[in-house]
Amino acid sequence: MAPTFELVTRAPDADLFVVPVFSGARLGPGAQLVDDAIGGTLGEFMQETDFDGTRGEVLAVPTGGQLGARAALLLGVGDEETFDAAALRRAGAVLARRTSRVASVATTLLDAVGPDVDRGVAAQALAEGVCLGRYQFLRYKSEAKASRLEHVFVISRAGAKARAGLARGARIAEAVAWARDLVNEPAAAKSPAEVVDLAKVVARASGLKTKVFAGEQLERERMGGVLGVGKGSERPPRFLRLEYSPRSPRGTLALVGKGVVFDSGGLSLKTAGGMEAMKTDMSGAAAVIAAMSTLRDLGVKARVIGYVPLVENMPSGAAMRPGDVLTMRNGKTVEVLNTDAEGRLILADALSLASEEGADAIIDLATLTGAVTVALGDKVAGLMGSHDGWVAQVSEAAVRSGERVWHLPLPDDYRRNLDSDVADLRNVSSGGGAGTLTAGLFLKEFTGEAPWAHLDIAGTARSSSDDAETSKGGTGYGVRLLVDLASTFRKPSR
Ligand code: BES
Ligand code: MN
Ligand code: ZN
Repeated sequence: MAPTFELVTRAPDADLFVVPVFSGARLGPGAQLVDDAIGGTLGEFMQETDFDGTRGEVLAVPTGGQLGARAALLLGVGDEETFDAAALRRAGAVLARRTSRVASVATTLLDAVGPDVDRGVAAQALAEGVCLGRYQFLRYKSEAKASRLEHVFVISRAGAKARAGLARGARIAEAVAWARDLVNEPAAAKSPAEVVDLAKVVARASGLKTKVFAGEQLERERMGGVLGVGKGSERPPRFLRLEYSPRSPRGTLALVGKGVVFDSGGLSLKTAGGMEAMKTDMSGAAAVIAAMSTLRDLGVKARVIGYVPLVENMPSGAAMRPGDVLTMRNGKTVEVLNTDAEGRLILADALSLASEEGADAIIDLATLTGAVTVALGDKVAGLMGSHDGWVAQVSEAAVRSGERVWHLPLPDDYRRNLDSDVADLRNVSSGGGAGTLTAGLFLKEFTGEAPWAHLDIAGTARSSSDDAETSKGGTGYGVRLLVDLASTFRKPSR
């Protein structure tokens, strides 16, 4: 269970009193109280222990029960001048990781951001950080050591704005945790049909309408990409459509998420190592479903439609073969030369439908190419798009949410590398490198007239280590960004 947050104006009784210290051992808000409680010896103590406020460091200080807590914890938060909402989110996560053995914490951390930072924004970041830093996937551990942290008292004079921010941050983090859980779940337990069932539970609880295509409906709907990729698996594909419709909506935003519940590569089989993490190949789908689950609670004014193709990419006697030609929903034909480039095939159908249904703007999230990891690593997603204004909106949402992106080009003249001898397109480029960009150019063929943006999250969806608010394993990347984007959505001008 997520911790509860309470905004208070003075130190309450709690197990630990946590105060920030900036680089150079500069005392943050509340630290003076700790110094007073130990008779003015805090400076010496920090010096003796080489604690200088470096980001991520902590120092426990016994307070003999003063300040309403058994002990105080100094939390190094780094440079004071650059301490913004993103830094506060990180600090909140470190706090949660370092206080997992106690049930309650009181902290002055919120006021460590400068007066120019909106208190609502800061409080949201703090709550997100604490909840995300506390996250662990323990479902299959027989001796689970869950965090005990349950109550977080946020000591500040900030008012209603901060209280609302804390609630908003906790709600968004809950959705991120849901996405992480689904991504971390072994593929055996999440067939396309099972993911649909889980999504329906969430949809019901959050006022989303659902529509699901299976079997013959997929054929009637001409979902050639979904059917082609899904053919090789014993567990048949699904297409999930989620809809959030507030009264008198401000435009329609389409969210598309790649949902490959396991990517073996198909007949173009991956190596053993290449397959290890491929249960996470539905991270885009998880992010879309999770983000949509928050929209009603957060009072989002835009209409938001989620398009989630779900398949398992497996080799079998029934699987699509290299050289096969698929006809996608928008009528374009694709020669499949590598069955491991399957994400773009299912996204083609989803993007076609989104554009057909008249979305004012589309964004897709997909663990699409290993190449994006080479370019940007595991902390920055590749952003591509067909409309500068829309790409800029996405970039701004990324900055605010602390989920980083970098804008990459879609060069027209690279499109010829996707020319096929027999069909309209081939699904892998015939050379020239830039695998991330040619994947983006492939998707663009299915977006029609709608402003469209694409996030390649192959690097960011999963992490090999815990780091502040990022968790080892599935990261839930994209949920925060999508929630921000939907909350601030403006129809891009055509
Ligand atoms: N799901 C993979 C991309 C991926 C790779 C995600 C590594 C996370 C980590 C995708 O379906 C894939 O296999 N892409 C191929 C494309 C290639 C065949 C053109 C790739 O990146 O190698
Ligand atoms: Mn693949
Ligand atoms: Zn894949």
